[in-house]
Parts: sequence; C-alpha cells; structure tokens
Amino acid sequence: MDKSKRKAVIAGNWKMNKTAAETSVLIEELLPLASGANCDVVICPPMVNLGAAAQQTLGSNVAVGSQNIHFEQSGAYTGEVSADMLLDLGVKYAIVGHSERRQYFAETDETVNLRAKAAVAAGLTAIICVGESLEQREQGVTEELVRLQTKVALGGFTAADMQKVIIAYEPVWAIGTGRTATADQAEEVCAAIRKVLAELYGQQVADGVTIQYGGSMNAANAAELLSKPNVDGGLIGGASLKPADFAAIINAASV
Ligand code: PGA
Repeated sequence: MDKSKRKAVIAGNWKMNKTAAETSVLIEELLPLASGANCDVVICPPMVNLGAAAQQTLGSNVAVGSQNIHFEQSGAYTGEVSADMLLDLGVKYAIVGHSERRQYFAETDETVNLRAKAAVAAGLTAIICVGESLEQREQGVTEELVRLQTKVALGGFTAADMQKVIIAYEPVWAIGTGRTATADQAEEVCAAIRKVLAELYGQQVADGVTIQYGGSMNAANAAELLSKPNVDGGLIGGASLKPADFAAIINAASV
C-alpha cells in the first residue's frame, strides 16, 4: 500500500472545552510546535470560537474545523450552524457523525449523510466518523457495521466528492477511555473501510482517501498506530488539548 497517494491528517477534536481566552492561549502554544509539520493539521474548537481560531491561525499551517454542521442552508433549526456560516468564518473542515453526536444528539447514518453532503457541497472537507461499540465488537459485527455506516454516510457522493472526504475510524469503546485499539485492530478496520471505498469508487479513488484512527490516540501510541499501511492520520480528543502531546502526534505523522 502506497501511503504517498494520500495526505496524513492530524485533527484535534476539542469537544466542549476551552473558553475564548483559553482557545487563544492554546493556539498560541500550538502554532510554533506545529509549524514544521509534514502532515495536514486541523483543530476543531467549539462553534463559538471558530471565527477567532480561524483568524488566529490565518497564514499558518493549522486549519480550523467545526465539530458539527447542519444540512440546510438556513431556516428554523434552533441551535444549528450551516456550511455557509462556517465557510464565512474561514473554517475548512467539518467533523460529521462523531459517536458523541450519535449517542447524545440522535444523529443517525442518514443525518450523517445529509450533513456530510452539505459540507462537501460547500467546499468543506468532511471528516466522517464511524465505529463500533464494545458490545458490537464482542458480537463480531464490527466490520459489517462499519461498512454499513460508511456506505450510508457516502450515499450520493461521487468519486470527485471523495477528494473532500476523510473517514475517521473511531471505536466507541476507545474514545476518552484510555483504552486504545491495538495497531492491528485499527489497521484491520481501516483496511476494511478502504475496501468499501474501492468497491464504491474503484481502487485508485480509495487509495487517495485519508482514513484516520481515533480513540485515545496519544503521544506514546501514535507512532505505532500511524505506521500501519491504512492508518493515515488521527482524530484526537483529549491529547489535542495538550500542545506538547498534540505536537508529538503531529511529529509521528510527519515521518
Ligand atoms: P479521545 O477522543 O482521543 O479523547 O479518545 C477521540 C475523539 O472523540 O475524536
């Protein structure tokens, strides 16, 4: 497998953390640490701080992403934010279908598809999250489930659209638990995702799609996970709030 066909992307999902002032401090600490990265670097602060984050990172190699996006352009959708609003702020990426949104905010494969479509149609890169629960892994349905999530999320996407899609494999049991998938487990599912992409769009397109691993990725385990042929980057929660740890993960992806 030739990893040079696709970009390594390290994205930090800050979740519901950091005030405006704290966001500014964290970005200030991160920018010099990330400046030598030989991979794409993305930070995803909470919605209210996206505009300021985009301003502060302007001209740097750090891009800004949202943690969610709505599928309509405007209207009566209290609490939601559209693709155009994000673009207007200078946002370049949108996380879609994170397991916390699926679990706590009734996100389904169908709404993930709609949100991802809205992101890509607007020119944003969608980071589409898929992954199994512990129960599903123990039942032995991981691959089937992840295949299904991936296929439904990509309904209506063309091969050209896939240039604006990243898939993040995030086993739910590994998120925020300190329990990381082994590098072999991550590779197995990321390879299965690439196989679905090849079935849908052909091998050449599939080989160009970045597939991230997420779930307790940290400074200590990143290098091993990222050494796997189908693990092209990471979606990082907890460790992305610690500049030195996030920088170590960026370095591990920059080899
Ligand atoms: P974690 O979160 O790194 O804290 O496990 C990953 C994620 O939810 O994207």
